[in-house]
Amino acid sequence: MTHFEPFALDDKILGQGFEISQTLDQLRLEVFPPDARKTLKRFPVQEVATYLGTSVNNLKRLHLEGKGPVPEITGGGRRYYSAEQIEEARQFLDKTGKSASKKYVPQRRDNDKLQVIAVVNFKGGSGKTTTTAHLAQHLSLTGHRVLAVDLDPQGSLSALHGFQPELDKNLSLYDAIRYDEERKDIQATIQKTNFPMLDIIPANIELQEFEYDTPVAMQTSNEGKTFFSRIARSLEHIDPNYDVVVIDCPPQLGYLTLTALSAASAILITVHPQMLDLMSMSQFLLMLGNITRTLRDAGVAVEMDWLRYLITRYNPSDVPQRRMVGLMETILAQDILENPMLNSTAISDAGLTKRSLYELERGAVNRATYDRALDCMQTVNFEIQGLIHQAWGR
Ligand SMILES: Nc1ncnc2c1ncn2[C@@H]1O[C@H](COP(=O)(O)OP(=O)(O)O)[C@@H](O)[C@H]1O
Ligand SMILES: [Mg+2]
Repeated sequence: MTHFEPFALDDKILGQGFEISQTLDQLRLEVFPPDARKTLKRFPVQEVATYLGTSVNNLKRLHLEGKGPVPEITGGGRRYYSAEQIEEARQFLDKTGKSASKKYVPQRRDNDKLQVIAVVNFKGGSGKTTTTAHLAQHLSLTGHRVLAVDLDPQGSLSALHGFQPELDKNLSLYDAIRYDEERKDIQATIQKTNFPMLDIIPANIELQEFEYDTPVAMQTSNEGKTFFSRIARSLEHIDPNYDVVVIDCPPQLGYLTLTALSAASAILITVHPQMLDLMSMSQFLLMLGNITRTLRDAGVAVEMDWLRYLITRYNPSDVPQRRMVGLMETILAQDILENPMLNSTAISDAGLTKRSLYELERGAVNRATYDRALDCMQTVNFEIQGLIHQAWGR
């Protein structure tokens, strides 16, 4: 038998890592050139009516009377609106709508606070990124000014919005919260997306530095000792520009997640109803609870308007999953969102081509599958939208 010849680990994995990354960069360059910008489909009138909170008939009437935006009409007589036109129609309805009491534009008013929603769970695959992307896009289509923040160094949320963390060399939130002089204003980290009312702060691997910098900074500076307020304080600079911020947290309970939670006004915990996922979530709750208690004892109370559990990738015909949901309902009661997000191939398939359900053309997958998934997604997102509006006292 031949013995192994020991080698230096760094030599080996640095070389291999570099080669894989080069080859993937090349592949991605071919598939998705760096200057390519994502575009957005047109939305059928039924969907538009849902986002506007009006009826299809009302939209048809407006169009026939020559009011508001002019939809594209296909051969079959179907009406389609661009996302920009949806917003145009909303502004039009808001100004001219029959009942003066009905507001079509849902943006914050008077003393309404900026809503900051942290989407968290330790477990990868619990649906954080999918939930964040669809919630942010839904809120933008329903007329809110939204900022999505990708706080996961893996950058999946950024990738879904057409950013390529390794190729594009975008700034990340790290640039706005770092402790040294390289720090930039948060405004410099914000990018537009293909949804007119949705901006994003993309992620890159540099975010991970915050996990290493913070313990050092805690020893040496006041800024370090108050690390948990860094996201909240940088968001203050852009507070008037948005109604809702949705943060996709990394799958770990590190300084980034804690800092996001300290900035949050609400917390959405995504959970796939399986035994291992639930066990991991209970660990997460205990750890998070203990850390926030320590913070509170130190005089820093983390206060939320609401907390909800969202059941994700649910398959109701799977008996063990049903049992886990039953167990959650018994213990968590009112804190579970009434509507779970069902498992759907429409969502996973769309994800493979870096698209969300809202970006998918109805014909791209089986129609019944698509309709069921979109219907479920709308229901979940409208329920969360209700909580946001409730926080504004509506
Ligand atoms: N409702 C759903 N139905 C089917 N697949 C889903 C659903 N939600 C998420 N997925 C898929 O599950 C995987 C993990 O989801 P993701 O949102 O990336 O989780 P996380 O961000 O928590 O790691 C992805 O491939 C995603 O496309
Ligand atoms: Mg993720």
